[in-house]
Amino acid sequence: MHTLRLNAGQVEEAAAILRRGGLLGIPTETVYGLGANGLDGQAVAHIFEAKGRPQDNPLILHIPTADWLERYCEDIPAAAYTLAERFWPGPLTMILRHKPIVPRGVTAGLDTVGMRCPAHPVCRAILAAADLPVAAPSGNTSGRPSPTNMADMLEDMEGKIDGIVDGGPCQVGVESTIIDLTEQPPRLLRPGGVTLEELEEVLGEVAVDPAVTRLMGAGEQPRAPGMKYRHYAPKAPVTVVQGEPADGARYIRRHLADGDGVICFNEFVPLFEGHPVEPIGPKDDPAEQARRVFDALRYFDGTDVTHIWAQCPDRSGIGLAVANRLNKAAGFHIVQA
Ligand code: TXA
Ligand code: MG
Repeated sequence: MHTLRLNAGQVEEAAAILRRGGLLGIPTETVYGLGANGLDGQAVAHIFEAKGRPQDNPLILHIPTADWLERYCEDIPAAAYTLAERFWPGPLTMILRHKPIVPRGVTAGLDTVGMRCPAHPVCRAILAAADLPVAAPSGNTSGRPSPTNMADMLEDMEGKIDGIVDGGPCQVGVESTIIDLTEQPPRLLRPGGVTLEELEEVLGEVAVDPAVTRLMGAGEQPRAPGMKYRHYAPKAPVTVVQGEPADGARYIRRHLADGDGVICFNEFVPLFEGHPVEPIGPKDDPAEQARRVFDALRYFDGTDVTHIWAQCPDRSGIGLAVANRLNKAAGFHIVQA
């Protein structure tokens, strides 16, 4: 199957692919998604096939406006509307109880569903034109870094999807924040573009799922099924180096062997001359680091480096999301400089 390239203006063509049960690469502000009609069980099944995604990993439903929540969810707490008011459209997914209309393929048999109203203007135009809730996981092959531009998504999905819309590079670069509103206090399942601090401003206390900051032990289950998979794992093993950035850079330089690659803050690139280096942004700019972290990991997948050393921001703001993605890529192999 040839994958049709669409430009940002071809909204009707994109919506038609969704309406007829096809698979569409769709830009969002976080990462590119692999979208299908979220009410069509068969179309949803094709998402799992194209990604090689485990069947027990549920999908997020993307909706054009918050007033669609009632169509698919029940027992919606007031906090959902407060969060929607403040952060939608935007990079926030809320876990809520679902109505029977949501296909089992979306929920993976859970009694909850993830709901998100994305901010990317092209995505919003497609959702409005299709007039459907769009089920969309990130557009990577299962286990690879999420795609943050059209070329990265085509690398994984060329020939497996009907079309893809070019919406430019993603502005956030890491997937949406996931907050579970079915328990009290609400629980952060995945950090992303809406920060923990921002959620706490609105919700008060927020529990942080242990899967966000450490490796789950045998018999432990993260609340977001997808957080248990060793996502974003490049072929070479990754070691994350925490601590003051200059100390971390010196630590890496001391331990660096021939054939090793480095993911570092821009300031420290000169320290690693002669090695493959992917700078992810200035040390004090975690938003830029978020935009570049998946590209850096994807780059090393295409090289034969033997080991990857990665600098990592502290856990405030969107730094928590960057640290989470790097730590997952490292299988939580973290050292302190
Ligand atoms: O930014 C995003 O959220 C992107 C774009 C395309 O919108 N989508 C995305 O989807 O990252 P995906 O499928 O790659 O990640 C969704 C995560 C998975 O870890 C999944 O297990 C979790 O959300 N999830 C989905 N439904 C859930 C539910 N009902 N309860 C708990 N976790 C859920
Ligand atoms: Mg994903």
